[in-house]
Amino acid sequence: MAALWRRGYRPCVLCQSTISVNRWQSTAANPQAAADFLQGAPHRKHPGVTALKTVSLPEELQRAALASIHGAAVSGLADRARRLTNFLWSRKRAVEDSALREKAIALEKTLLEREKEKGRDGDIHLLETRIKKKVLTALRKTTYHWTPLRYNDDLAVVYLAARLAGGYAAVRRVLNEVKKRDPSFTPQSLLDFGSGVGTVLWAVRSVWGEAERESVCVDSSAAMNSLADLLLRGGSDREDPLIKQVYFRQFLPVSPKVQYDLVVSAFALSELTSQKERRETVLTLWRKTNSFLVLVENGTKDGHQVLMEARDAVLTGKDKVTFDSRTPHMFAPCPHQMPCPKLAQEPYLPCNYPQPYRPLPLPGSSDRAVERFSYLVLRRAEPEQEAERSRRRSWTGLG
Ligand SMILES: C[S@@+](CC[C@H](N)C(=O)[O-])C[C@H]1O[C@@H](n2cnc3c(N)ncnc32)[C@H](O)[C@@H]1O
Repeated sequence: MAALWRRGYRPCVLCQSTISVNRWQSTAANPQAAADFLQGAPHRKHPGVTALKTVSLPEELQRAALASIHGAAVSGLADRARRLTNFLWSRKRAVEDSALREKAIALEKTLLEREKEKGRDGDIHLLETRIKKKVLTALRKTTYHWTPLRYNDDLAVVYLAARLAGGYAAVRRVLNEVKKRDPSFTPQSLLDFGSGVGTVLWAVRSVWGEAERESVCVDSSAAMNSLADLLLRGGSDREDPLIKQVYFRQFLPVSPKVQYDLVVSAFALSELTSQKERRETVLTLWRKTNSFLVLVENGTKDGHQVLMEARDAVLTGKDKVTFDSRTPHMFAPCPHQMPCPKLAQEPYLPCNYPQPYRPLPLPGSSDRAVERFSYLVLRRAEPEQEAERSRRRSWTGLG
């Protein structure tokens, strides 16, 4: 059992207890069931084990990425890639205007009280101006300054060098879990929001193969879209792309009429400017989901919080007009709809997972690295269908 948890079957504290209780009940009722189910295979072969060994990029993708990087000849690439990695990992969400206003009001009140205590009389206007200045200076010093990233041609190549292999490993690991827990699912259509260099397209191809599939990649950066297209063409101008039927867009279409079997957003929600924008985007992505919505972010506190916001938005968000009567169900990492118990802990530690991978072989890079990520998978399904799956999951570990 210990090996099972170590190899990646790691739902949160709440789920661990739920599943172990259920497993105990079913084994007690039918002692032979668990053994029969594994048919004598070791626990590492348990279907609940979804972690992968060290993930390598597909050969064609690695070749295309190296050709594109060499072709672009960006100066100081290694240093810029290292700085971009650090910047993205330490990035927090922008402070909301309402939170900033509250902080300013509280600070103003404290400073005014302090002045009152000193008992100084004087011009009230002058005092107010002085306090306002002090409040602004304090806010400037203590507030995180979020800046948007504009991916131009150079920054897109820096991103490719810095993040392709790690991002691919995380997405591949999450999609592997979807496939393993629902072998009957094969996406015929894909929508990737904030698609960047097309990492998700390649991970989907590795997991589900070359099936007939239409993919729509949405990224506001024209430079990212061109680079993703170049990678599909092997880093050269070959006519025939390695993955077919891929369409690039700069704006997310909002109409719920066209749905996609698989909707993914990897490391992109945290690039949006406000909680309102993230919520609206997630709700649009959900409306466009026919089966699975997969969200992946950095395994940091902020990355995890972005996913918790998204989870709340989908589970509680109600449309004025019902576009699709099937309801959202949590699929992974935790198969329950209750609040995440991690959020109630002090100090709050994000729920994250490590995935080893091989970085792009560029000067100065190591042989092996670990990507730490957080993720969320929601499934659209009829409630009865989900109840049946839940019953099976309680002792088999399958979803
Ligand atoms: C950190 S990159 C992630 C790229 C890719 N998904 C991956 O896993 O490597 C975030 C991407 O989101 C894009 N982006 C940011 N704001 C966006 C928006 N409002 N609409 C579409 N794309 C956006 C950026 O241009 C960038 O390419």
